[in-house]
Amino acid sequence: MKKPILVSGIQPTGRLHIGNYLGALKNFVDLQNSGKYDCYFFIADYHSLTENFNPAEKPAQILNLAADFLAAGLDPKKSKIFIQSAVPQSTELAWILETIAPMGELKRMTQFKDKSDAQQENVNVGLFTYPTLMAADILLYDAQFVPVGDDQLQHLELARTLARKFNSHFGRTFFEPKEILTATPRVMSLDDPEKKMSKSRPGGCLFIDDEPEVIKSKIRGAVTDSESVVKYDPKRKAGISNMLEIMSGLSGKSIAEVERGFAGMNYGELKHSLADYVSDYFEKFRKKKATLLKKSAVIKSALRSGSAKAKKSAEKKMADIKKKIGL
Ligand code: TYM
Repeated sequence: MKKPILVSGIQPTGRLHIGNYLGALKNFVDLQNSGKYDCYFFIADYHSLTENFNPAEKPAQILNLAADFLAAGLDPKKSKIFIQSAVPQSTELAWILETIAPMGELKRMTQFKDKSDAQQENVNVGLFTYPTLMAADILLYDAQFVPVGDDQLQHLELARTLARKFNSHFGRTFFEPKEILTATPRVMSLDDPEKKMSKSRPGGCLFIDDEPEVIKSKIRGAVTDSESVVKYDPKRKAGISNMLEIMSGLSGKSIAEVERGFAGMNYGELKHSLADYVSDYFEKFRKKKATLLKKSAVIKSALRSGSAKAKKSAEKKMADIKKKIGL
């Protein structure tokens, strides 16, 4: 039987933090290894053009993210790992979807508002139409499932709306994709646990390739609260709860189990123990990534073959889409 298709992407905009890992990348690997899905994972380089960037840095950012994918456990033999821009059909479909996308829905996108606030000198149209490109990335491959963090849910809702609208105007063409969330879909910032951990606030990020000393110092400096009891209470103890969630996400233990494990510890001890855990957890990853980056030909060849496979299915789908709209 044909396996359901699963698609997700990450932007090459800098180093991956533990939010990207626990909300997305770790899950990509688990879902790939479950053997239940036909998986497509890509580097969303076209999306990354909506933020300020330096063209000279882009190739290294793409290579670096591909190394993250492979070092974390994505396997080109099991999944199609590719670069978004190597499949021009995604931007082609994005245009078609734009013609049925309601302005009002795009205007409501909170990421558009947040990103426009963050880069007021560069509120470009791509930032606004971004969710239609994301819908195209998903619908183009007939994806039924999309593993993401919770900041992407609104975009996914739009993908479903567009699939439904297209199907009702032009005949059954697309699946309505569903999200797959992890138990930690929203990791919070270490320096401000009321805010989401985000590349745009590097000070609060724990990067997955941070060296042990850096991990220790960042966790030591993480904002907590004025009490001293380790307890999961996201409303009153956002910082401590975030650390418990990180521990739970990495270890696979429930929050209650993690809480019990830290019972009786003070905040300093909790931080120390979490820092050791995180640092050990990513040790193999760090080594593998460093080795991979020395063999960029291996990475490039994986991307080339993944891109060729993705393109093949995209071409077939695009032919059907064009036929449906009379082109
Ligand atoms: P991006 O590159 O911003 O983030 C990659 C993934 O990481 C998740 N994430 C988080 N999860 C938990 N806690 C956090 N603090 C946190 N921060 C980020 C994101 O939800 C995402 O899953 N638009 C996408 C890229 C994209 C895409 C797609 C994804 C383009 N086309 C099609 C899925 C399907 C983005 O900017 O992710």
